[in-house]
Amino acid sequence: MQVTLLGHGRLGSAIAEGWRLTGTVPCPTVLTRAVPPVCPPDTLALVIAVKPAAWRQAVAPILATLPADATVISVMAGVRAADLSAALPGRAVARVMPTTAVAQAQGVAAIWSDDAAARALAHALFDPVADTVDLDEEVLIDAATAVAGSAPAFFYALAQALAAAGVAEGLTPDAAERLTRGALRSAGSGAATEASLEALIARIASPGGTTQAGLMAFAEGHGLASAASTAVAAAVRRAHGLTGD
Ligand SMILES: NC(=O)c1ccc[n+]([C@@H]2O[C@H](COP(=O)([O-])OP(=O)(O)OC[C@H]3O[C@@H](n4cnc5c(N)ncnc54)[C@H](OP(=O)(O)O)[C@@H]3O)[C@@H](O)[C@H]2O)c1
Repeated sequence: MQVTLLGHGRLGSAIAEGWRLTGTVPCPTVLTRAVPPVCPPDTLALVIAVKPAAWRQAVAPILATLPADATVISVMAGVRAADLSAALPGRAVARVMPTTAVAQAQGVAAIWSDDAAARALAHALFDPVADTVDLDEEVLIDAATAVAGSAPAFFYALAQALAAAGVAEGLTPDAAERLTRGALRSAGSGAATEASLEALIARIASPGGTTQAGLMAFAEGHGLASAASTAVAAAVRRAHGLTGD
């Protein structure tokens, strides 16, 4: 399958790596600022992975060589399908919101399109590298961006806060960081199983134990739920202002 990948930064390079690893697209055509912006004539899909504020400038020069029947797959946050369709007339559009773990074929990706063939092509490209989740409405991509695309950083930030709390309880910074990173890895391996989040929590939180005491403190005054909803709402709001359009 001939795929042209526009943008080769953190996410674009992770996608290309995952495709190579899984043989999905062994040799995508990668367009960066450093190469002439020309699509091969048999391009089936154009995957756009530049920053939202840069997409119009990046797309304009390749319009002349992008086949009229190519499908546009955007992994950009905050860029609406209607704007992509207007800039790339006649091409079907799908939006995908992946995490960078697609590089190891362990990502998660939300997929939306109102065109069945474009949705199927997005699945063909991302199913091999991610757990793909179909969305019914485009607007939900912003929520998916917050709870998937951005969320790994939220988990790291929570781990950082836990490590700092461990230091406050007397651990050295090095010990606290190593222990917290190890805990994050353990949580990740639990998340890789089929068990529900509720069951994963119950496995660790025995009644009356230390974990349960900590979880009850998290729940008090809805502190954790409120921090999570504040962060997700802020990310969703930000997605609306990313393009500067
Ligand atoms: N990073 C994530 O975890 C993540 C997750 C979900 C979605 N996304 C989305 O993915 C997109 C890319 O994010 P990123 O983190 O990968 O950003 P990034 O690391 O800054 O990469 C953007 C890439 O686009 C290139 N670029 C800019 N203008 C170009 C042009 N005219 N022609 C060709 N390439 C051009 C940049 O090249 P230069 O280095 O030369 O500027 C850079 O390599 C964003 O829209 C973001 O919303 C990212």
